[in-house]
Amino acid sequence: VHEQVSSPADRRARGAWYTPRSLVEGLVDLTVPEGRVPRLVIDPTCGGGAFLLAALDRLVALGLDPEEALTRVTGMDLDPGAVQAARWSIHLWAGPRLGWDRARELACVLDLIEGDALVDWPERWRGKVVVVGNPPFASPLRSGAVPASAGRYRTERAELLGPYADLGAIHLLHAVERAGAGSTVTLVQPQSILASRDTEPMRRHLDRMAPRRALWVARELLFDAGVRACAPVLEVGAEVGEGIELYCGPAARPVGRAPRGHWTAAAADALGAPRLELPTAGTLGELVEATAGFRDEHYGLVGACREADPVAGPVRGEGWVVTVGAVDPLTAEWGRSPIRFGGRHWSRPVVDPNALPPKVQRWFDRLARPKILLATQAKVLEPVIDRTGRAVPATPLIAVLAEPDELDRVAAVLLAPPVSLWAWRRWFGTALTVDALKLAAAQVKELPLPTDAGAWAEAAALLAHTDRHNNVGGRAAQEGIGVADPASAWDLALEVATIMNRAYGAGSEVLEWWSARRKARPVPTAARG
Ligand SMILES: C[S@@+](CC[C@H](N)C(=O)[O-])C[C@H]1O[C@@H](n2cnc3c(N)ncnc32)[C@H](O)[C@@H]1O
Repeated sequence: VHEQVSSPADRRARGAWYTPRSLVEGLVDLTVPEGRVPRLVIDPTCGGGAFLLAALDRLVALGLDPEEALTRVTGMDLDPGAVQAARWSIHLWAGPRLGWDRARELACVLDLIEGDALVDWPERWRGKVVVVGNPPFASPLRSGAVPASAGRYRTERAELLGPYADLGAIHLLHAVERAGAGSTVTLVQPQSILASRDTEPMRRHLDRMAPRRALWVARELLFDAGVRACAPVLEVGAEVGEGIELYCGPAARPVGRAPRGHWTAAAADALGAPRLELPTAGTLGELVEATAGFRDEHYGLVGACREADPVAGPVRGEGWVVTVGAVDPLTAEWGRSPIRFGGRHWSRPVVDPNALPPKVQRWFDRLARPKILLATQAKVLEPVIDRTGRAVPATPLIAVLAEPDELDRVAAVLLAPPVSLWAWRRWFGTALTVDALKLAAAQVKELPLPTDAGAWAEAAALLAHTDRHNNVGGRAAQEGIGVADPASAWDLALEVATIMNRAYGAGSEVLEWWSARRKARPVPTAARG
């Protein structure tokens, strides 16, 4: 009710998206296991008290009497209304259990504090406590500055929290440091903290100082805020244990264990991704350079973009503007259906390099050669070979540059199911949706190479033959990029992927994982009439 009566502006300012009951109960239960009744359960950003109520139920289930349980829960919130709501909620919990008179007396003395958890953390909240809750999230990348107290703490811990670290991560590190040795800390986080560069030093630090006992992750969107969430369960000062318990979904149900390793790999395991062990055989960086435009290139291209001449078509030397949305594995929509770019639709968008600002022109010239365009933000990596070198990639499409006779081998690597799976397990949580991949250009060079050179060569030869065949002659050579017919591109990608799955020694479950994530096969051009 308190969440509903807060104004949207107030909710946004406080990050006040309260946690659904099933998740709260699941997280509290796994944080407070049987046989470990805690001295104190703290929610430092308690809102209406959802976690405190679940903690009370848990403490009673573990054998405490309700009155004793009430002395062991405590919370704080910036917002006086939230603190009051938490007090009333707990009063309503206590009434039926202790009688209303006693409940009223106890509600008055409950340890609920109006304050800033990043500043006012009390001394009694230190040492062998349980911290569980859902702090506010805010990404400085998207919403600008974080609140002043969070900014100050981040500056103090600048070696662990980069300038773009999410506000949730700031609360997490702060809680671990303030709660201290012997404590358990479970705070809901945006999934981006699992892989983001600005929280990487924090993750390494926590792996030493507060190893993960468990990880919860969900594919579903559970808060109105529209951010996908996870929650590490950290044991401050504990020995590093064998593996990690995994929990998944809206009610945090147990789904097994994962080996210790990258935070993202455990999250992928929790969501049921196949396990993957690839022998090291080098990285794609041995064969390629990769680059993507940023702001200057984007605005430069938008400013210079125009329709190709409807009769004569693109002029020699013009670049054909291709966007992420226009790319599918081994084919691009350019010239086939409208392309959305710079806020409008184009049939055949082109740019004259002479109309570009000098810096962007130099970038254009560097890319005016045969290359691969790689779309990320899809569920699998989507490469298309630009054999003529005419395409110019709109931000954030990645240009993968290699020797012309290596392009087929490189495209085969990018189509390999174990490579998409490896990338997802590694950079999980950084894309807009849970199942999407998102790679920065530099990360393309980290992708692993296959061990079976024979199978790799077979896939590359198939690509060279079929893709080339589809590219030359007819309409495609004049107007298209990649395989002309989307259905043929789809079939070819599957054939190459099947061979490349073998080249990495991966099992059929990896190929199935990849196949299940692809878009449906398009209707063949011929059958469209
Ligand atoms: C995402 S809501 C979660 C509330 C509650 N833990 C739950 O899960 O239902 C975050 C809460 O943190 C409070 N908050 C934001 N910044 C805070 C801070 N620095 N110290 C204490 N509370 C804060 C907001 O007022 C809001 O009630």
